[in-house]
Amino acid sequence: MQSYNNLYSFFILLFYFYNLALCENDYGSSKLFHHDPQDLIRKHYFEIEPAETAFTLDIKPISYPDKCELKQLHLLTRHGSRYPAPPDIRAFDHLEKVFANVSVAKKWAGAYSRCGASAMAFSEGLFNGDGPLDTCKNQPVYVWNIPANEDNIIEMYNNCLLANETVLNNNPTYDQQNYTYANTTLKPIADRMTKDYGIYPPLNPYLIPSIYDACEFWILHFNRTDTWCLLLSELDIIKSVYYWEMTIYYKSLYGNPLNEQLGCVYYTRLVNSVDNYLNGSSIMVADLKNGHGHTMFLELTALVWCS
Ligand SMILES: *[C@@H]1O[C@H](CO)[C@@H](O)[C@H](O)[C@H]1NC(C)=O
Ligand SMILES: *[C@@H]1O[C@H](CO)[C@@H](O)[C@H](O)[C@H]1NC(C)=O
Ligand SMILES: *[C@@H]1O[C@H](CO)[C@@H](O)[C@H](O)[C@H]1NC(C)=O
Ligand SMILES: *[C@@H]1O[C@H](CO)[C@@H](O)[C@H](O)[C@H]1NC(C)=O
Ligand SMILES: *[C@@H]1O[C@H](CO)[C@@H](O)[C@H](O)[C@H]1NC(C)=O
Ligand SMILES: *[C@@H]1O[C@H](CO)[C@@H](O)[C@H](O)[C@H]1NC(C)=O
Repeated sequence: MQSYNNLYSFFILLFYFYNLALCENDYGSSKLFHHDPQDLIRKHYFEIEPAETAFTLDIKPISYPDKCELKQLHLLTRHGSRYPAPPDIRAFDHLEKVFANVSVAKKWAGAYSRCGASAMAFSEGLFNGDGPLDTCKNQPVYVWNIPANEDNIIEMYNNCLLANETVLNNNPTYDQQNYTYANTTLKPIADRMTKDYGIYPPLNPYLIPSIYDACEFWILHFNRTDTWCLLLSELDIIKSVYYWEMTIYYKSLYGNPLNEQLGCVYYTRLVNSVDNYLNGSSIMVADLKNGHGHTMFLELTALVWCS
């Protein structure tokens, strides 16, 4: 028995060294960062809500002063998080090419498709398909839409030419931040990866936030941190989150004065609708609109005028 144990240990040791040698050959001196997916989600690094709060339906009823009577309801909602977006998918395809010769990354190719994700959900029975989710109480509703390119109430982000030409594009304040952040904060991370993984030509610093996006994708869809997340330290993740937050700040939020005005059409209609109802020229009691994240950003930013 004793000798069996010794032999066993010997094999384990041998295997251990063999693995170390393999790693050394494959990845050189590179570091791989191991994360617990739940830990990263709990710290709010991603779009997904931690389960502790996501599944607590701690909803407070709308309250209004006793003397008021609810006459008309205006509700602006958005879809739940959808991920990845088409530019993310393009960035992931690009990343795969850049890391094509990095052995550790060889198995990280993903099927990044939104249609595929929807089709899977449907086949599992969401919206009364025949799958295991069929017992749930979800009910499809038909939504009538103004074509997006004619909808200036909630699609102003895409339809205002001035915003397109001075906020989304050719935005000197953002462009400067974008450049400086990449040159000072993202570049050292990119240089480290270039060196560690032998990437040639050197990794473009602007791809670091996309590596974070790919990390997010694998966590959200597969609960796995053993792919692109391996390349990022926790601080790299925080710096990538900052890059996207900074971009949203300048392009969709308070970082540009035009964004304080883009939400006005919605509020103007809201006020007129209430007036029209109160003076008897309309019977509309509820206005339910379903927009996007950028719609919400701009409507919240426009509230600056009310404060
Ligand atoms: C990967 O290696 C091949 C063969 O050496 C080379 O032709 C190709 O340019 C390399 N690609 C990248 C992205 O490094
Ligand atoms: C916004 O500008 C870009 C070019 O920077 C153009 O491709 C796009 O079509 C424009 N969008 C709209 C809605 O005008
Ligand atoms: C930041 O600048 C780079 C390089 O010019 C550009 O490719 C990238 O699209 C910019 N980022 C955003 C979010 O516009
Ligand atoms: C980019 O960063 C380098 C090194 O930190 C610095 O020397 C250089 O001046 C920066 N480039 C610009 C245009 O600011
Ligand atoms: C995700 O993986 C972690 C361990 O890596 C596990 O503790 C957790 O239960 C998993 N979550 C889900 C939703 O599968
Ligand atoms: C009702 O209020 C709306 C919005 O202020 C106004 O345009 C409309 O003329 C008013 N109608 C009547 C009948 O007073």
